[in-house]
Formats: sequence, C-alpha cells, structure tokens
Amino acid sequence: MLIKRRRGWEVPEHLATPEDVFLSRRGLIGGAAGLAAAAVLGPSRADAATAAAATYPAPRNEAYTLDRAVTPERFSGDYNNFYEFGTSKTVLPAANALKTSPWSIKIDGLVEKPFEIGVEDLIRKAGLEERLYRHRCVEAWSMAVPWTGFPLSKLVALAKPASGAKYVQFQTFLDKAVAPGQRQFFYPWPYIEGLTMEEAGNDLAFLVTGVYGKPLPNQFGAPIRLAVPWKYGFKSAKSLVRVSFVAERPKTFWEGLQSSEYGFWANVNPAVPHPRWSQASERVLGTDQRVPTLIYNGYGEQVAGLYKGLERERLFV
Ligand code: MTE
Repeated sequence: MLIKRRRGWEVPEHLATPEDVFLSRRGLIGGAAGLAAAAVLGPSRADAATAAAATYPAPRNEAYTLDRAVTPERFSGDYNNFYEFGTSKTVLPAANALKTSPWSIKIDGLVEKPFEIGVEDLIRKAGLEERLYRHRCVEAWSMAVPWTGFPLSKLVALAKPASGAKYVQFQTFLDKAVAPGQRQFFYPWPYIEGLTMEEAGNDLAFLVTGVYGKPLPNQFGAPIRLAVPWKYGFKSAKSLVRVSFVAERPKTFWEGLQSSEYGFWANVNPAVPHPRWSQASERVLGTDQRVPTLIYNGYGEQVAGLYKGLERERLFV
C-alpha cells in the first residue's frame, strides 16, 4: 500500500470535536443534509437524497461506545483511501463523480435464490442504527466514527446461504469511465474483500450507509460499504455492488497485489509489525496524539473466539 507521510491532519488535540459537542449537533444534520441536497442536485436526485436523509440520524445503539472523541468530519472526510479515485488521501472531488442513486446490490453464489436489491429497499428491510466504531488503517493511522447502518448478519439472513457457503465475498463497483484509478491496469480491479461466514455473522460486522448522522458522502464509500472494526481498514470495502456466498477463500484486492504485506485475515495486532513499519501505535486523525494500538483494535472480547483452532493461519497480516 502506498504510504504518504502527509502530516496535514496533525493539528492540536483541542481542535478535535469532543463527542458531546458532536452529539448536540446531530439533530440538525439530518434535516440540513436534505436541504443541502435539494440546493445542489437536480429535482429527481434531490427527491431521492431528501428521502434518504429523512431516515437519518438513526437511533444510537449504546452497546457500541468509544474510549476516545469522535473524529471530526473535516479530518475523516478529507483523508480517505479510495484507490478507485486515486492514491492521494484527497479523493473527495473525484469520488463525487460516482452516481450513487439509484444503486442496487447483487446477492449471489451459494444462496437459495440469487437476487438484486436496491439500497433503499435493503435499508427499509434491515432498519438503521448508529454505532460508534474505531477504525484502524494498516498505514498506522486511526479515527473514531459514528457509522449508520445495520449488522451484516441481516443481509446474510436475507440471502439464505446454502450450507456449502464458507466465505462471503464483497465486490466494489467497476466503472473506468468515472473512476480514474481503475484505468491503471496494474491494480487487480474490481476491489474484492472477504470474510468467513463466522466473521460475517459476528454482530460487529456492519454494513454502513451513513456517517455523522447523514447518508454516506461519496469519499467514505457511498451508498453502502462494510465496517469490520477489528481488522485493518482495507477489509472494509466501499461502494459495494455484489455480495457472493462462496466455498473457497476469496482472493482479495490487496492480497492480489502484495500477499506478503496484506493477507486475507488482517486482524489488528500491535505485536505483529507490517514488513515495512511497526503496528505498535497509531496516529489519531485530527489530533497530535499517537496512542498504543490494541489487539483486535480493542474488540478482542467480541471476536477473539472466532480464531480458535486457526492459530496456524497468518491471522495478523
Ligand atoms: N474500498 C475500496 N473499494 N477501495 C479502496 O481503496 N481502501 C480501504 C477501505 N476500503 C479502499 C476500500 C482502506 S485501505 C481503508 S483504510 C478504508 O477503506 C478507508 O476508509 P475511510 O476512507 O472511510 O477512512
């Protein structure tokens, strides 16, 4: 993975928004998002965006709390990895070229009956909740975000996988006309990620449709992405168009590029360095803090049991 030692986000800690300030602004955001959409989009897209904004902010699931302040959007929203739109962290302008409504996802592979479903339909079926999650990138930076979405297990239940399904494979859109990065032939497009069925069934595995109390801005992976907070961030594939239930372990995007550095499991572990840098600590976006990294990114209690009997695998690369 390309590492840019850009330090523009490293501002003093007092500039980071504390969570209580963020929370008091939440109620305003949903309505404002709809109004802003109407101002900048054409009438039909504005209608869709306004309808989507009406479901935000979603009720908070208090089971998911944080040990740190939420990262203000001005930092997390301008420091993104989305290689489809370039290798710099400022992908926002390029990512806005992606038309995210209407958008549907194909569910296929070893399922009772393959189907395609619109994201808004999926949201209606699954419902939405908000969770505060940590996010730890393999590049040793981190953030804390209020994602809105629903547990991946709800999509698995809708899919009705067959007993032969051992893995879930996630695929990002493929459209060279809008995504300049996809014109670079040396990357194995489309972006593919995967989880075991057991991992996909863990309550922490989350499909995200919103952040900061509003629909996902494009650079975060609109209109629907994954959040797997105990793994390095590259497992959390963005702008999904297909979820397949398969018998064999998927060959993932980064594994295809450099398997010695980016494996299938990619669980966070401060004691296992990346071949080119330490994973012992992380820089928190929007602050001048460097904090110790935690095993499974602090979610060991919920997920360590998933890896019993798999000790011979490269679980932390
Ligand atoms: N998904 C796609 N399709 N393309 C990408 O380049 N980058 C990954 C992940 N999902 C990536 C992706 C990486 S390396 C990280 S750290 C996170 O997205 C970044 O998510 P964020 O932009 O919301 O911080």
